[in-house]
Amino acid sequence: MENRQSFSRQAFHLPGVRAASGPSPRAALAGMQPYAPGRSISDIRAEFGLERVVKLASNENPLGPSPLALQAVRDALPDMHRYPDDRAVPLRSRLAEKLSLQACQFIVANGADELITLICEAYLEPGDRIATFAPTFSEYGFGARLMNAEIVAVPLADSFALRADDLLAAVDARTKLVFVCSPNNPTGTYLPKAELEYLLSRLPNGCLLVLDAAYSHFADAQDYADGFELLRAGARLVVLQTFSKAYGLAGIRAGFAAGPADVVAHLLAVKEPFNVNALAQVAARAALDDEAHLKATLRTNAVGRDRLREGLDRLGVRSVKSQSNFMLAHFGARASFVYEQLLRRGVIVRDAAGWGLPEWLRVSVGTAEEIDLLLACLTDVLRSAD
Ligand SMILES: Cc1ncc(COP(=O)(O)O)c(C=O)c1O
Repeated sequence: MENRQSFSRQAFHLPGVRAASGPSPRAALAGMQPYAPGRSISDIRAEFGLERVVKLASNENPLGPSPLALQAVRDALPDMHRYPDDRAVPLRSRLAEKLSLQACQFIVANGADELITLICEAYLEPGDRIATFAPTFSEYGFGARLMNAEIVAVPLADSFALRADDLLAAVDARTKLVFVCSPNNPTGTYLPKAELEYLLSRLPNGCLLVLDAAYSHFADAQDYADGFELLRAGARLVVLQTFSKAYGLAGIRAGFAAGPADVVAHLLAVKEPFNVNALAQVAARAALDDEAHLKATLRTNAVGRDRLREGLDRLGVRSVKSQSNFMLAHFGARASFVYEQLLRRGVIVRDAAGWGLPEWLRVSVGTAEEIDLLLACLTDVLRSAD
């Protein structure tokens, strides 16, 4: 789901399909484009006849899922004929314990993507506005468009920095939601704690801050804040988290939001009853307690991030210092050539053109072996581009 990009959505027009009778779709659909997934491993294998394909395109966990989550899924399989728990009670209780908040301050959803949609459904009337940075994760725009709301996109500052004042300047009486992705996808840059607090203190009453902290586990800067401390202090913001990244559960779909109890109640009011399947609930619950897997994941990422950056440096490729599990690398006019050539060699990265960054590629941090393979392929490709 990470690959959703507004640029890659094509209009909802099916060639050869003529409108029959029936209602017209909502006007909002005219501005929406369907999800165009990135290239999959099986796709690239088949297209180029390759045995080995390495995917560094969707910021997934290179170590795989938490083993405790796998076991929990196996244990839960015999009960698959039962509906899941509509309120994900054990998972929310454990989250409350771990994060020192109340269970009523959590909502679990079918990935953080669903949470973004739920927030938009709960708060946006047609003509309302959301404010967010650009480039950033595309789903905030998707949720706003779905509700016929307007998107005010504020350019990141130099070096892709997130500046609270720039965002505040874009907020007006019609702005209901402000989405901040920190660490930001696709740049890996973040909103420092002091800036986050400043932003929160200046937002008007009718405006809710949504801090998308999907990549928070990977951030190790002293001045990074994931928003939970603010929530514990009673601040009014919503923090989004996912089990798709650090916990390695992207395929089973689970994420959660934490916020003030009244905001969570609004989100519960628009969610479908059985939005999170039973296997996802037990997997997420088990992964939360798999300290060893999380530790190994964070270590692999920290070491891999340095390895990748140093390797790119050696090749003369500029990269953006990242607080996440991916990195933007600058290839200039050769970016799309490099992207294609890497595919042919069995390495899938992400073309950043869709974020308005045609000279950049976004590379997920893999294992040491995957990074070395990428760097070896890049050496070869850059030589051939000279
Ligand atoms: C910033 C950000 N938020 C949310 C998500 C969605 O996560 P999930 O897989 O939980 O839907 C992604 C996925 O890539 C992301 O990059």
